[in-house]
Amino acid sequence: MNMNDDERRMLMARAVAVRDRAYAPYSNYHVGAALLAASGKVYDGVNVENAVYPAGICAERAALVNAVSGGERKFQAIAIATSNGGSPCGVCRQMLSEFGLDLVVLLVDERGTLAHETTLRDLLPRAFGPKDLGKDEGGSMKAEG
Ligand code: THU
Repeated sequence: MNMNDDERRMLMARAVAVRDRAYAPYSNYHVGAALLAASGKVYDGVNVENAVYPAGICAERAALVNAVSGGERKFQAIAIATSNGGSPCGVCRQMLSEFGLDLVVLLVDERGTLAHETTLRDLLPRAFGPKDLGKDEGGSMKAEG
């Protein structure tokens, strides 16, 4: 399930493009995420803020919820576009980890330049996950499960 250069470029460009749709009137920190599922489909997410600040959602979790709602449980990579190549927050790392730690994470700046490439395993060492509760990771369950 290795990504080729074209897929990598496409995913980064998609994160930059979707970033325009971020709703971030309070922080003015616009984030776009593009999540590549094992199926080959890409799911978008943006941060959606709220006047009740904690009710807002990050772009990465928005993309994940979008993808799982579309029936996906396995993911290859996520590209995240911000003004400065920022890294996903702890809550997003945790939520993504439910579906596997091998996820490739591409951090992209607003020009679409790759600022950093890593994996969820590196971003979330000694992760607490489904196995700690005697469950298979979300990515290995059937869609009906
Ligand atoms: N944000 C994300 O969308 N993803 C992250 O991983 C970091 C933070 C959003 C949340 C909030 O809308 C704004 O960026 C500032 O924290």
